[in-house]
Amino acid sequence: MPINTRFFCIVGGKYPKLAREEITALLKTYGHLKIEYSMDNLVVAQGECKINKVARRAVYTKFIAREIQTEEDYSVLRGKTFSCFGTNDVELRKRVVEDIKKKTGAKVLLENPDCQIVIVSKSTGINSSASFTNLIGIRIPQPRIDWTKRLSQRKFFHPSMLEPRLCRAMVNLAQVKEGDTIVDPFCGTGGILVEAQEINIRTAGYDILKKMCLGAKQNMVENIAICDSLHIPLKPFIADAIITDIPYGRSTKIIRGQTRQQILKDLIDNTSVHKMVILCQKDDEDMIMKSRTNLKISICHLYRHKSLTRSMVTIMTW
Ligand SMILES: C[S@@+](CC[C@H](N)C(=O)[O-])C[C@H]1O[C@@H](n2cnc3c(N)ncnc32)[C@H](O)[C@@H]1O
Repeated sequence: MPINTRFFCIVGGKYPKLAREEITALLKTYGHLKIEYSMDNLVVAQGECKINKVARRAVYTKFIAREIQTEEDYSVLRGKTFSCFGTNDVELRKRVVEDIKKKTGAKVLLENPDCQIVIVSKSTGINSSASFTNLIGIRIPQPRIDWTKRLSQRKFFHPSMLEPRLCRAMVNLAQVKEGDTIVDPFCGTGGILVEAQEINIRTAGYDILKKMCLGAKQNMVENIAICDSLHIPLKPFIADAIITDIPYGRSTKIIRGQTRQQILKDLIDNTSVHKMVILCQKDDEDMIMKSRTNLKISICHLYRHKSLTRSMVTIMTW
């Protein structure tokens, strides 16, 4: 694939910033790209990328497309059927359809076409600061996952369990790939680890409660041990990333002497793991921002209900 290939991704869902960060992390995991634009519901990147792998993993991105610009890009549509979507600009859509028909002889088919063409028009979707105009691309297929079914398939359930889709996004944010190892020091029912295993990432999980560890094992999570987070052996060689959901509130309070902030301080200051994705509370942010200086920190707020907004913190050391 040429190095100047441009990809554009339309994100969706209730957490647009998290969705943009998730797709950006995946593009970086599987490619060498420059992010050209990241705003509202659109991310545009240029460079080399194993885009099919990105498309297989992204959970908060609705459409991923490879831009078609040159005659050669158009040639993949020759003799195929196609449909167009993604813009409300009817005139633009008509122009694109006619152009494709003329250049390639491809025919429009609304149900089950060979290719789907995604159009983002500058007038509706893109801020005026962008260096490009309309985007026209071929959609990269993504798997459809029934997240409700995935949750109901768990054998052991607890109210503190994170929803599977969010767990998968956390794994994606950590920029880990197949064969890497992640650790969850507060694994509970193993929600994050189940989702990591599903995409061939190795896992280790710890929880102070035996009941939770047994539950995680019932949920088919490997390498689970009962352990206080204070004593977890987080040596760099055992983990590529720490991904965790810090205990909070009534149903998942911290057990033993530490406060939530002490736990976070310990995690961030005393481990040599270079990538961390931590779901914590908004009032923990100050402590995180004041920790070690060689950290690149990014925070997304997740509104859960009127008295709870959680913070998804991605930390990379450099
Ligand atoms: C928010 S829950 C994790 C939920 C998990 N993400 C899931 O999907 O099931 C936090 C977990 O931390 C555990 N925990 C509390 N204090 C701990 C400590 N000092 N060391 C290790 N685990 C602890 C609790 O037992 C609880 O299961």
